[in-house]
Amino acid sequence: MEARGYHVAVVGATGAVGQQMLNTLEKRNFPISKLTLLSSERSAGKKVTFRDEEYTVQTATPDSFEGVQIALFSAGGSVSKELAPEAVKRGAIVVDNTSAYRMDENVPLVVPEVNEEALKNHNGIIANPNCSTIQMVVALEPLRKQYGLSKVIVSTYQAVSGAGAAAINELREQSQAILNGESFSPEILPVKGDEKHYQIAFNAIPQIDKFQDNGFTFEEMKMINETKKIMDMSQLHVAATCVRLPVETGHSESVYVEIDDLNVSAEQVKQLLKESEGITLQDDPSQQLYPMPADCVGKNDVFVGRIRKDLDRDNGFHMWIVSDNLLKGAAWNSVQIAESLVKLKLV
Ligand SMILES: NC(=O)c1ccc[n+]([C@@H]2O[C@H](COP(=O)([O-])OP(=O)(O)OC[C@H]3O[C@@H](n4cnc5c(N)ncnc54)[C@H](OP(=O)(O)O)[C@@H]3O)[C@@H](O)[C@H]2O)c1
Repeated sequence: MEARGYHVAVVGATGAVGQQMLNTLEKRNFPISKLTLLSSERSAGKKVTFRDEEYTVQTATPDSFEGVQIALFSAGGSVSKELAPEAVKRGAIVVDNTSAYRMDENVPLVVPEVNEEALKNHNGIIANPNCSTIQMVVALEPLRKQYGLSKVIVSTYQAVSGAGAAAINELREQSQAILNGESFSPEILPVKGDEKHYQIAFNAIPQIDKFQDNGFTFEEMKMINETKKIMDMSQLHVAATCVRLPVETGHSESVYVEIDDLNVSAEQVKQLLKESEGITLQDDPSQQLYPMPADCVGKNDVFVGRIRKDLDRDNGFHMWIVSDNLLKGAAWNSVQIAESLVKLKLV
């Protein structure tokens, strides 16, 4: 590790993910010699405090990346498409939180607990997977390694912060309006910029991102395709249904898996996950102990509980997986990738 640290840029520093990036870099004491904070023109000039020092947010342009060694991008896909290659051209390694490069075969898609080694094949850009995919693969990988894995069926219960700072405001304002008996007009969810918007307060919306021709949404396809890529299992049977709930932060997932081994008990699965990196097991029905989003906010781990063997399939298991989507689902996974780059001497 360099004694003085690295020149780090955070692109989208004023966003829901960007703010958590800064908190995480600070908490992890990541070695930073210089910090460049970037946003759109809207937030340029805004002051942000990091490690007791005040920084001024600047408009992101290609020249913003002069001298930058590590650039953490979370400002939307179009910004990454335009500026990530500019950052790489100037010598930076980009860790990109958007979906812009995730399925590019020249770009490693990395969750350090699962495929840290893939970082060695990077060509300047490393993709951070979709939030709901990250927390699921952390729990799937120990099962795959120990018992083999053939099928994954997931239903998600996703928080509004997954759709950015504007969606958090929408949930708060709508909830308040409904409680006050006032009228309101949904403007962000399910998809910002689309024609139709639905109430999220006191509701559940079975659409995250746009519909594809096959009837799945883009979020569902991200979970399906990214899981196969990260786990390097193109034959894995994966299906997903993604639902937005009026929860501010913390995605939950009900996951059904089929493993190859027919002689595994729920207790063995619990023990395996309890001992696995990045996982906290919370599973004791006698104490009503199971993971819930409200308990996971601000924590880096993936929380797993409600582990049961299927009643009809000897190799089938059900589980409930919860994590802070802004941390393991975004900022923490990105900073963890940066830490891995340092550890593997790739930066
Ligand atoms: N939220 C999650 O759980 C999550 C998880 C994984 C990945 N992501 C991805 O991360 C990205 C950001 O998400 P978010 O939730 O943080 O969104 P957000 O709260 O809406 O923040 C967006 C950030 O991007 C900046 N930005 C927008 N347009 C820009 C431009 N043209 N040039 C430079 N900066 C620009 C914004 O700056 P201004 O303040 O100037 O507008 C803001 O800092 C998205 O691509 C999202 O898909 C989000």
